[in-house]
Amino acid sequence: MIEAMRALGYSLQSAIADIMDNSISANAQRIEVTMDWREAAAFVSVLDNGLGMDRATLINAMRPGSRNPLDARSPGDLGRFGMGLKTASFSQCRCLTVATRTAGGPLEVRRWDLDHVAATGEWQLLHGFQPGSEHHADRLTEMTHGTLVLWERLDRLTGAVGDDAGAQLRARMQFLNGVRKVEQHLGMIFHRFLSVRGKRARRMLLNGHPVAPWDPMLSERETIEQMPEEWLWLDGQAIRVQGTVLPHHSRLESEALREVEGPRGWNSQQGFHVYRDGRLLVAGGWLGLGLERDDRFRLARIRIDLPSTIDQQWGVDIRKSRVTVPPSLRGDLKRIAELTRDRALRVYRHRARLLTPRRGEEVQGLWNVRATSNGYRHEIDRAHPLVQALQGIPGARSALDALLQLIEETLPVERIWLTEATRDQVATLSDGDQQALQILMGKVYAVLVASGYSNQDALLQARGMDPFCHHPDLMPLFPPMEL
Ligand SMILES: Nc1ncnc2c1ncn2[C@@H]1O[C@H](COP(=O)(O)OP(=O)(O)OP(=O)(O)O)[C@@H](O)[C@H]1O
Ligand SMILES: [Mg+2]
Repeated sequence: MIEAMRALGYSLQSAIADIMDNSISANAQRIEVTMDWREAAAFVSVLDNGLGMDRATLINAMRPGSRNPLDARSPGDLGRFGMGLKTASFSQCRCLTVATRTAGGPLEVRRWDLDHVAATGEWQLLHGFQPGSEHHADRLTEMTHGTLVLWERLDRLTGAVGDDAGAQLRARMQFLNGVRKVEQHLGMIFHRFLSVRGKRARRMLLNGHPVAPWDPMLSERETIEQMPEEWLWLDGQAIRVQGTVLPHHSRLESEALREVEGPRGWNSQQGFHVYRDGRLLVAGGWLGLGLERDDRFRLARIRIDLPSTIDQQWGVDIRKSRVTVPPSLRGDLKRIAELTRDRALRVYRHRARLLTPRRGEEVQGLWNVRATSNGYRHEIDRAHPLVQALQGIPGARSALDALLQLIEETLPVERIWLTEATRDQVATLSDGDQQALQILMGKVYAVLVASGYSNQDALLQARGMDPFCHHPDLMPLFPPMEL
């Protein structure tokens, strides 16, 4: 059974995050993670100032399956299976010690030693620290309440390390590399908790350094494009979903670029980010909705917020790192994903516009996307100068309105999406395309002039319009017939 529990597939960082979930559930405001490399005596510890446990709770907590996964949990409790403490710990170490105290209570210490279990063939929960490790409780004894989880004999972290200096060095490097990954992972998984300010603020420290939050949705950045938030319903519970399109990399400084990209890299980080009660469960990917991961969609990220009350329907796993989309929501999520991917693809392709943003000038698009109760509606912008010019023609107005509405009603969005998505070259213009675009620009320019714009204003307007704005050096061309 222990070997089975060890093989659930935790990474070091996901295992530590699972332990910290418990600290958050216990209301800890401060969580200190220590990762120390001392060859054979390497250890990892998580110390929190949460409520702590009394003896009976601790003994129960050390039991695999300490809670019924079907039980309702109180708000703020990130647990589900009654397994995490054991499975996460055993995935990394052979000796797990938990020391804890409640306010006013004594220090309680219990330990699982897998070598002891293997040697005796019995599940004997040991008392106290392993000899020589008692000092790990020093900090806790100074606190009024809290819990220390200590991992020793980290056989999974670096594997068996031989005596030679080369192997020792490699193991040490591996360990240090692990520390960096843990830091990035914690900053991402718990970024919402870390961003709370004021009385309910939480601090997380790794080897004494504060863990900085990293928000994959970059909600604080002004340059991102957010789609409207949608609420989907499952068993009377709301699931909030919102697509975000990140800015094109030509609009970011190289430092900001790395920040936006995220710890897992552009391609892994694209797609859905699923939060469960504010804690990030899944960081990227398309949730098995049949949408491929592709560099072209790297700017698309979608946030899903789930309450833990519907864990079962979403197939939340013990490691809190995977979900399965309930069948009834697949359609909606796919629709939102496709829309976000569509927008992201456009931004990704239209780098010319983004390479030369005109200061203080809005790009004049023809299409607006509006959220409605059952999806999105693409509408032609009635304020577009060309629409305005046509509306000004006596007698044309009602025909024009009807035509525009008809176009909007029958726009074959899905078909367009399909053909666009399978076309993979970045927009570069052939000479023929370029000329056609210049002639179109010439026509637009002529209409604007005819409707009262000065030559200079008409040129400015046309240049600021989609698609001409993506080609900053484009000049209108007037074929002989049109003159
Ligand atoms: N740091 C802690 N402070 C206080 N209580 C804790 C702490 N860590 C664990 N516990 C107690 O131990 C129990 C078992 O923890 P464990 O992580 O194994 O399961 P869980 O959190 O209930 O569910 P899950 O398997 O989903 O993590 C918890 O329910 C909680 O009561
Ligand atoms: Mg837990």
